[in-house]
Amino acid sequence: MERSATDATDGAATEAGRTGGRSPEAAVAPIAGRDVPNAPGHRRLLGHLPLMRDGMLPMLRELGEAGPVVKLQLGPGTKYVISDGELAHEILADKTNAFGRERMARGFRPVTGDGLFTLDGTAHRERRKIVTPAFTRTPLAATTPLICQVTSDFAKRLPPRTVLELDHEMLKLSVDIAVRCLFRSEAPADTVSWLATKAFTLSRGILLRMTAPLWLPPMRTPSGWRATRTLREVAETLSARHVPAGCGNDVLSLLDEAACPAQGEPNITRTAVIDELITFLAANSDATAMTLAWAWHELAQNRDLEQAVQSEADALFNGGRPLPDKVVEHLPLTSRVVKEVMRLYPIPVVARNTVREVTVGGFRLPPRAEVLLNLYGIHRDPNVYPHPDTFDPHRWTGDEALTTRGNAYLPFSAGAHRCVGAPFAAISAPVALAALAARFELRPAHPDRPVKAVAGVVTRPKRLLMTATPRAGFNAQQRVSDSAMV
Ligand code: HEM
Repeated sequence: MERSATDATDGAATEAGRTGGRSPEAAVAPIAGRDVPNAPGHRRLLGHLPLMRDGMLPMLRELGEAGPVVKLQLGPGTKYVISDGELAHEILADKTNAFGRERMARGFRPVTGDGLFTLDGTAHRERRKIVTPAFTRTPLAATTPLICQVTSDFAKRLPPRTVLELDHEMLKLSVDIAVRCLFRSEAPADTVSWLATKAFTLSRGILLRMTAPLWLPPMRTPSGWRATRTLREVAETLSARHVPAGCGNDVLSLLDEAACPAQGEPNITRTAVIDELITFLAANSDATAMTLAWAWHELAQNRDLEQAVQSEADALFNGGRPLPDKVVEHLPLTSRVVKEVMRLYPIPVVARNTVREVTVGGFRLPPRAEVLLNLYGIHRDPNVYPHPDTFDPHRWTGDEALTTRGNAYLPFSAGAHRCVGAPFAAISAPVALAALAARFELRPAHPDRPVKAVAGVVTRPKRLLMTATPRAGFNAQQRVSDSAMV
């Protein structure tokens, strides 16, 4: 999409200048820009509710084709849906001063308290500075063998030839990865299972609060309230059982150090440590788990691809060899599978609200407008991705593929709130997938039943029932854990 010179400038500077530093409400003249068109399919009285006939994801797909910016009327209030990668980037990264995250905060705060998901501005920047060192090269490299170890332990517990709810199993795995690799702590199997089960209850509550009209006070169901209280107790226990990584740069060590520094004043409170621990648990678990679950679903549909992934996995994990240094570099195809899964099944929308009037791509958005960045629609743009609904990891082969998608690939969002855990996800998802692919073949329990994708905070399969069959010839004596406790 073409961007005018005015659009390309930082909206913050331009529009603050226009209002002469007064509050947005005090600005008299409306800023120049086109009116945002209504999305097609609007009905009197019903608004755009008929677009939801097949669910939220087909609607987002349809809106993706309706135009770069459209207005959507679902119940009270108007939503502005952005389905163009360049414009999404403009909102997330270039015009950040014009956009807030009120909806995200409403959704997450009752569960996470004041963590990275709910903080904004200076408080957010300072908190991010504390945890970022955990996601740099050295601590991540030290974590990789531990991810293999956790996956190997998980694989040993997986009942073979039984019908599994794979989405739930992957949640258990990713919770355990978070507990042991990010927090360097331990949790008994029943706690991990409880966290995996409650992830769904909590994420449903988060979504309800995020999508409810802003004039309603944030809702909490009794089950959500009970789950949140227990979650805090679990987080306290995880924190108490923390054994710092050798390099001291694990998430919990960094937070503890900020709350209780050897010298000087604390930067954060003890409550903030627990808030952030819960934030990381929530942020990691659902997104990574559903990425893995969808990867299994897609591999089961494509045997050639599955075999190629198995060969890559065998070369690393089968036969008792010690792991090489940069494990993920030995998994190029598996990494592309993960990349393609995150394109087809992303976090469907990222929510923002305008804090004042602003133009995006030449369209005028009013103050306090609800803005939905339609990642699901952007990732299925046929102009960028030929056969956009087809799962094809090979589309990511070659340098050109990496550069020409530009901002039409935003699985981790962009700007100041871009996923801080992205470097961890880029390692943990392919490594866990490969470590399991070396051991098991997964098959749909009911091949004739299509698997439906549903929108939550993440795109999740509606009951992914699969059976895991151990692969013949896997050498269980492998030494994946040799350097696991770095
Ligand atoms: C497939 C895996 C993942 C996906 C698709 C994903 C996606 C995202 C997205 C889209 C956001 C930005 C939301 C926004 O702009 O408002 C985000 C934020 C965040 N993610 Fe992830 N994430 C993944 C894995 C992880 C992991 C493994 C961690 C922890 C290690 C993590 C921690 C976070 C945190 C703390 C934030 C808030 C960042 C901030 O606001 O500063 N995520 N993630």
